Amino acid sequence: MDRYVVERVKTGIPGFDDLLGGGFPRGTTVLVTGPTGTGKTTFAVQFVYKGAELYGEPGVIVTLEERAQDLRREMLSFGWDLRKYEEEGKIAIIDGVSSVVGLPSEEKFALEDGLNVEGFLRYVYRVVKNINAKRLVVDSIPSIAIRLREEKDIREVLLRLNTILLEMGVTSVLTTEAEDPKRGRISKYGVEEYVSRGVVLLDLVEKDVELKRYLLVRKMRETRHSMKKYPFEITEDGIVVYPSGEIY
Ligand SMILES: Nc1ncnc2c1ncn2[C@@H]1O[C@H](COP(=O)(O)OP(=O)(O)OP(=O)(O)O)[C@@H](O)[C@H]1O
Ligand SMILES: [Mg+2]
Repeated sequence: MDRYVVERVKTGIPGFDDLLGGGFPRGTTVLVTGPTGTGKTTFAVQFVYKGAELYGEPGVIVTLEERAQDLRREMLSFGWDLRKYEEEGKIAIIDGVSSVVGLPSEEKFALEDGLNVEGFLRYVYRVVKNINAKRLVVDSIPSIAIRLREEKDIREVLLRLNTILLEMGVTSVLTTEAEDPKRGRISKYGVEEYVSRGVVLLDLVEKDVELKRYLLVRKMRETRHSMKKYPFEITEDGIVVYPSGEIY
């Protein structure tokens, strides 16, 4: 019998797909976790941006930590012109910040304030269908929890989110915080990793009085992957991973 061959989704992050046998398994939900400033937002946006630019796959970015306009400006520093693909209908950014801070949103896609879980999921579903998205990013899970005022039920929210993502057939990157991954805690609520099919940890290590970035694939279902830590850099073109580099 032939073995079932998993279709791979290329991330557009140079060097990274080599660690995964070609990319994320299609339709999978991957958690990108790590302490603050380690590159989670950059990783997530690069996945959607390169999807549109290199692989012709439309993508949706749900931004819950910074306004869409701030995200666009920041990403321009990598030469990623999100606006261009938004105008072509290849990228949609859902602004989940303006309403919460009481500012009117001039965005085409924006979440209303006081949304419950169903409302949130339904809105994301509609936008995904609207542009026929194949990729989705939610930045970040802790901000969903705060927004929905249902922090205690975060596991249930994540299970529902994950089910809906699988149903939509999109390949997703969700970000979360891990304050101190070296001490074993890799997510804010301790449950995010259980509902995602893959976990990628971004972190820093001190080397010769300098902090160096590294990345570790903690889990990736349907995939043989190494548990080694790989160095990466945030360059002017975004994240670049060095699969043959050493961090010690
Ligand atoms: N144009 C650039 N060129 C090189 N490095 C950059 C550039 N822009 C940002 N960086 C680096 O990326 C880091 C921030 O990355 P990013 O915002 O993706 O991290 P994050 O993990 O999402 O952080 P947070 O916890 O604040 O959400 C900056 O601290 C900086 O070191
Ligand atoms: Mg971020």
